[in-house]
Amino acid sequence: MRHSPWILIPLFFCSGCAIHPLGPLDKAPKHQAAKLTGYHGFAWGISTASLQYENRAEKPGDPNYFLRDWDLLVQQKKAPIVGNALYTWSDFDKDLAALKKIGVTHYRFSIEWARVEPQPGRYNEAALRRYVAMCRKLKEAGIEPVVTLWHFSFPAWLTDPHDSKKVNWLHPLARERWNLYVSKVVRATSPYVNYYAPENEPNGQVLTAYIAGLWPPCHILDFAGYKAATIASADMFRDAAYRIKEIKPSAKVVSVEALPWWKHGPLDPGGLIYNTVQHSNFDHLDRIYDVCDIIGFNYYYSQMAGPISFLSESYRHGHHFTMMGWRIDPASLGKQIRYVAKRYDKPMMITENGIATLNDPKRIEYLHDHMAQIRKAMDEGYDVRGYFVWSLADNYEWHYGYIPKFGLATMDPVTRDRVLKPSAKYYHKVIKTSQSEQKVQVDP
Ligand code: BGC
Repeated sequence: MRHSPWILIPLFFCSGCAIHPLGPLDKAPKHQAAKLTGYHGFAWGISTASLQYENRAEKPGDPNYFLRDWDLLVQQKKAPIVGNALYTWSDFDKDLAALKKIGVTHYRFSIEWARVEPQPGRYNEAALRRYVAMCRKLKEAGIEPVVTLWHFSFPAWLTDPHDSKKVNWLHPLARERWNLYVSKVVRATSPYVNYYAPENEPNGQVLTAYIAGLWPPCHILDFAGYKAATIASADMFRDAAYRIKEIKPSAKVVSVEALPWWKHGPLDPGGLIYNTVQHSNFDHLDRIYDVCDIIGFNYYYSQMAGPISFLSESYRHGHHFTMMGWRIDPASLGKQIRYVAKRYDKPMMITENGIATLNDPKRIEYLHDHMAQIRKAMDEGYDVRGYFVWSLADNYEWHYGYIPKFGLATMDPVTRDRVLKPSAKYYHKVIKTSQSEQKVQVDP
């Protein structure tokens, strides 16, 4: 029997979902997060980033005045003004006070490359000393610093204004200057630092820069640029890992990749979109996992791979979505942990997880349900070594400016103190409970 060829059309467009039907999502068992034991040495952390928190110290004309690629984007009116963010450069002690109150064991923050090296080969030694002091103060407070060496922003001198193919990862000076920067920073901070994350979400950054066209060099659907930048960022990650181990062999190298959980969606012929986004999840990590001690990844949401879901992001609201329009899906964090464990077979850390919301009870529920999934996976034997909430306080959220509220705290505009929200107190309780259980386990 012969079918009309027209019957193939709906099959073609639905093939993604037909081949891989969506399974039912698990419901997170509510009682488990409170019982997180924090298995011996579990890292209870918070993550932040320099550009999203720090103010500037120098004015234009000062030899240490620095510009980042992001500042160029702001100048071109393609991104909102950063301003003084949370004044963390002047007020690090306020961040520290909040971290102590919350009781975290680990704190991930980043070093601003442009601040340390405002011009190629010209270092701001005082700035580097201040970063070292931050690490020391954290250590003295009993908090392990986890130092990110690059969190999205590059020195503006890695932008060739005449050739957008020579920007950031792909600038002719990038690799050589990066290696010197990494060695310098690691040598200075290593007395206080046991964990280094060379790069934050390079996979997400490269996608946003070369496919979505939103981050420098703002290329749209430039697959050749995407591939070249992926390879260059992976090579630079490997260089950094090598230098970290050379300077401090006991230090742990941690990846930080953006790993949303992708689902097959409609209007995805042959699963083309699904496969593309899966590639964007793993292309970088596949190239560097072997030099990592810990596979760290950031998980926020799950998403259908397809045009409807991509175009409707900013219109999605309600209980199941965050302020960003991201779908809240804790069970898929569990799936991602299992998937990453199978793919790389290494210890893992959730290096960011959090929610933009004005509704703090919703934040508590979000954190609770995600931690419950981690616990469930750990109980099954998956090796998760830590969990980091994004973020300490409401901060600058890239293209969205100061509108999304990801913080466990907010900044008092007058005193600049970090005022803890109930979610910070909730996280404090989870940490304390887990530690007392750990004590019982160690010393029954
Ligand atoms: C990034 C952060 C960002 C957060 C929330 C992560 O992709 O590392 O810089 O603020 O997600 O969007």
